[in-house]
Amino acid sequence: MRLFIAVDLDDAARRAAVEGLGRLRQVVARAAPRCRIKWVEADELHVTLHFLGEVDPERTDRVRRQLSDPWDLAPFPVELGGVGLFPPTGPPRVIWLAVIDREAMLARLYDVLAARLGAVGFEPERRAFRAHLTLGRVREAPGGTGAALREVVERFPGAPGARWLIDHVTLYESRLSPRGPTYTPLLVRPLDVGSR
Ligand code: 2AM
Repeated sequence: MRLFIAVDLDDAARRAAVEGLGRLRQVVARAAPRCRIKWVEADELHVTLHFLGEVDPERTDRVRRQLSDPWDLAPFPVELGGVGLFPPTGPPRVIWLAVIDREAMLARLYDVLAARLGAVGFEPERRAFRAHLTLGRVREAPGGTGAALREVVERFPGAPGARWLIDHVTLYESRLSPRGPTYTPLLVRPLDVGSR
């Protein structure tokens, strides 16, 4: 199974993100019509903490056990922010919405998760954690259209102000198909304090 671990939006934050995504799609379609972008479906927006890739059933059980251990972390607030691009310069590949982690609790959850995954043999991610929601993946940006896309995305205000509480962690299965990926939650574990 192809697996990843993520935190989810609540309904209000998802609505705010979807609304921002809709406006962004309009301005991108006008400013960079030749860019081919695969936009993320509204119900598939999530904040990836760790991508595990293909995992066999035995190892999947070990991951489930790690996630099922009490987290001993209280639910915490985060906010949606501006939009940006990966990589930060050159041809754009990913269009994302920032997640503002004022109390650095999402970073802490990420670190605790990385340690738990390390205990069952997963290497830490090579790149530093940048909390974001992927909105779109750039499939093609012919000629100078990548630069036009960058310009319009960098001027776009994003979806600032939407605040929600991260109160659970989800293990997802990702199934790939020509129509795009489908994400199915396999395990949802609450954040809580003092439950040991
Ligand atoms: P993203 O949030 O930055 O887009 C499911 O594919 C999720 O796992 C995606 O949301 C994606 O991150 C993340 N991911 C990280 N590394 C990946 C990889 N090598 N292949 C596919 N998805 C990856």
